[in-house]
Amino acid sequence: MRYRIREERLGADFDCAADDVLLRAGLRAGVPLAYECNVGGCGSCKFELLEGEVADAWPLAPGLSERDRNRNRRLACQSRPVSDCRIKMIGRGDAAAAPLPERVSATLIAAQDLTRDMREFRFRGDAPAAFRPGQYALLSPGGIPAARAYSMSNVENDEGEWHFIIRRVPGGAATSALFDLRPGDCVTLDGPYGRAYLRADTGRNVVCIAGGSGLSPMIGIARGLDRAEMAVGCAFDFFYGGRSADDICGEALLRGLPRLGSHVRFHSIVSSGDDRWSGRTGMVHELVADLPMEAFARTDFYLAGPPPMAEAVVALLTRDRGVPAERIHFDRFF
Ligand SMILES: Cc1cc2nc3c(=O)[nH]c(=O)nc-3n(C[C@H](O)[C@H](O)[C@H](O)COP(=O)(O)OP(=O)(O)OC[C@H]3O[C@@H](n4cnc5c(N)ncnc54)[C@H](O)[C@@H]3O)c2cc1C
Ligand code: FES
Repeated sequence: MRYRIREERLGADFDCAADDVLLRAGLRAGVPLAYECNVGGCGSCKFELLEGEVADAWPLAPGLSERDRNRNRRLACQSRPVSDCRIKMIGRGDAAAAPLPERVSATLIAAQDLTRDMREFRFRGDAPAAFRPGQYALLSPGGIPAARAYSMSNVENDEGEWHFIIRRVPGGAATSALFDLRPGDCVTLDGPYGRAYLRADTGRNVVCIAGGSGLSPMIGIARGLDRAEMAVGCAFDFFYGGRSADDICGEALLRGLPRLGSHVRFHSIVSSGDDRWSGRTGMVHELVADLPMEAFARTDFYLAGPPPMAEAVVALLTRDRGVPAERIHFDRFF
């Protein structure tokens, strides 16, 4: 069953299947709806329901406040249509220069542990894997009711490979299911999504800043940069913040890059140091703050990690270092 959706802010119409959500059906149809996380956390995809009926996949999603609910606002990433609808998005989306998302089945072909709780998963679908470095996809391992977002650590390829670095969350529904997968097992993969992808043609230097599982898209950005012409001439700094010495990884992956590997500057910091850690202790934005002032002037910044880390880094860059917002690209991991 499919329903017709009319979005009044853009004056766009699209179809949405009964088992799909308004946001993803709109994005699949090329309608640039506003969004960020796709999983109910950020509130960027709020809309007003003007006519029709939707079912709420996650009524208590943190992206919507009580006030929003009282004003008949909904989240497009959590709303399934039950009839034709007329809606008005609250925020304005930008058209992304990225392939349109699709839902495919993908098979686990390999998995490699990077630390005690971080693993790089390699899935393969039937068609070429088309996405921009730094984007994410929604993975639905069997048995969990709602898909989770994971960022690709590789770059687009004709072999149909989608790689993800995933941190196991103790008791987490999706990560427990993913870490139980064996080669040959299948998941549903829906993507690509996200606008924090590599802008490879700016001619500026690049800084990547990752916190925890934010490593995955930043490795993806580095791999994308390595493939682009600009890898030869630009300076590249990679910052990684973990909880303890056991969490710090990624440098070997970066050093192995054919063009960038020899000149990447890898900086790491842990929030709780011990005898095994001789480096800096603190939060990752404190390490970024040590860059010389001129390093902020001709540089594109990419960052990924939990919302408090993203907020601290963005405040440093925009408020204290005067970096314009259009040179800062990030997805928060709700
Ligand atoms: C854009 C983006 C990119 C991300 N990229 C990565 C990555 O590359 N690597 C990585 O390790 N992690 C990534 N994450 C985090 C990841 O999506 C999961 O939140 C994390 O793995 C924990 O999932 P879990 O199911 O194991 O934990 P749980 O504690 O079971 O679930 C945590 C998350 O699931 C969602 N959720 C919970 N209940 C519901 C519900 N009823 N309906 C819908 N959603 C629900 C919420 O977003 C919640 O934060 C990313 C998150 C986002 C938003
Ligand atoms: S995109 Fe819907 S809440 Fe984040």
